[in-house]
Amino acid sequence: MNLNQLKKQAAWAALDYIYPGSIVGVGTGTTIFYFIKALSTIKNLICGTVSSSNSSTALLKEQGIQVFNLKHFSSIALYIDSADEINHHLQMIKGGGAALTREKIIAAMAQNFICIVDKSKKVDVLGNFPLPIEIIPMAISYVSKEMIKIGGKPKYRKNVITDNGNIIIDVYNLCIKDPILMEKKINALPGVVTVGLFASRGADTVLIGTKTGIKTIK
Ligand code: A5P
Repeated sequence: MNLNQLKKQAAWAALDYIYPGSIVGVGTGTTIFYFIKALSTIKNLICGTVSSSNSSTALLKEQGIQVFNLKHFSSIALYIDSADEINHHLQMIKGGGAALTREKIIAAMAQNFICIVDKSKKVDVLGNFPLPIEIIPMAISYVSKEMIKIGGKPKYRKNVITDNGNIIIDVYNLCIKDPILMEKKINALPGVVTVGLFASRGADTVLIGTKTGIKTIK
């Protein structure tokens, strides 16, 4: 089985966690593409969705799935999203698809966050995948300098403007031994909108697509 098949397997497994009549938070990325396809098969059973990006909103609408504006909600029962890396504490790096800020808002609001990944995303220590940070454009030099101070190699993500009108830097070379502390420190820097470390609010369950079937970790 290739990685796309494993993503698909995890995406379909997430349907088991959806209650009839509920609002489902929907993440962003290639794994979520498969989840949206799977969700379309039960679209008449759910009340609708809230979406973490313009691209997911477009895909959901294409499938005839109702999308509500997030501003009308202060909490939701369930959020389904993927990750770029996830460790055994279910802390994650996210934002490879540039949707980290809206993803973090929905993750914070969700009573239950189910992360769906293929087996390549499971790691012992976070940081091999470059850490995305959404920043206000004028803060690029300052935030980059602060990332160099902690041993990172920041790189501006060319030709990407987020759904919120900001830019992204990807920080290479980090070995994130204390994800909660690093999340707190980077979030506190002026000009940072969101760091793609989901540590203080990680996932509640991860469904990992593997050659031998779904592995579930809670
Ligand atoms: C989007 O901004 C990301 O957080 C994605 O959830 C993450 O990058 C996983 O994406 P793929 O499913 O495309 O690997």
